[in-house]
Amino acid sequence: MARIQDRHPAGAPGPWFVDDRCIDCDAARHVAPGLVERNPADGVSYFVRQPETPEEVAMAWRAVEVCPTRSVGHVELRRPERPAFPHDLGDGVHRLGHNVESSFGAHSYLVVRDGANVMVDAPRWTRKVVEPVADLGGVDLILLTHRDDVADAERYAEHFGAVVWIHADDRSAAPYATALFEGEEPVDVADGVVGFPVPGHTKGSVLWHVDGNLLFSGDSLAWDPQRQQLMAFRRACWYSWDAQTESLGRFAASGLSFDRLLCGHGWSHDLDAAAFHRHLVELVERMPGQR
Ligand SMILES: [Fe+2]
Repeated sequence: MARIQDRHPAGAPGPWFVDDRCIDCDAARHVAPGLVERNPADGVSYFVRQPETPEEVAMAWRAVEVCPTRSVGHVELRRPERPAFPHDLGDGVHRLGHNVESSFGAHSYLVVRDGANVMVDAPRWTRKVVEPVADLGGVDLILLTHRDDVADAERYAEHFGAVVWIHADDRSAAPYATALFEGEEPVDVADGVVGFPVPGHTKGSVLWHVDGNLLFSGDSLAWDPQRQQLMAFRRACWYSWDAQTESLGRFAASGLSFDRLLCGHGWSHDLDAAAFHRHLVELVERMPGQR
């Protein structure tokens, strides 16, 4: 629970606050843009202004329930009338919230589909996720993007009887995974679901391409809202920047297009597929210069 006595001193006066345990993971800013921002003085989150409209209050509650250190709070301990998550993002995609510190606050998602419901990475194990996900039809496949963001995938897999996919090179983070693939060739794991290996951020990182237009990128690719372009995390590249450059180049040439980018870390974004492709080619051209 957020600690009012430790609220960020720069936060806007009012009932909503962020305490000083914030780890600068960005998750709350993604779900409450314009309300929760990064304080340039110390790099952690604070409320730049208090929410006013019902939609802004809903955004603030999402910030409470997405924060992995539970640093976002309200002075009264009331709960929202409606659960903050899953948050329906359209196209059957739901952000699951309840991010965990072991994943450094990475986001996870559920895609409700005619064929098989898909969970991409996993949140904290909580009935606040289990119950609504059950109401949405449960989980058939859990697609892990890489070793960092597995969180409580094992418990969700057991509970829903889901098949768990991970690349063999990151398998040690999910030894319970029931389905593996190897090498650099993309794999069709179900109707409309393609795993595209992108070694770089980690050796076993994967882009999951779903239903022809959704791209779940884990920590391999994100949108840079300041520069309005795609980005990869040079300073959070744990395996090989050369490999990441090469693998994102292979993906750009693969013909797999997307108009919705949904990230573990970093900013998700919607854009028409041709523009995303152009940005991806430009990113791959820039990457060798980022040393
Ligand atoms: Fe990661």
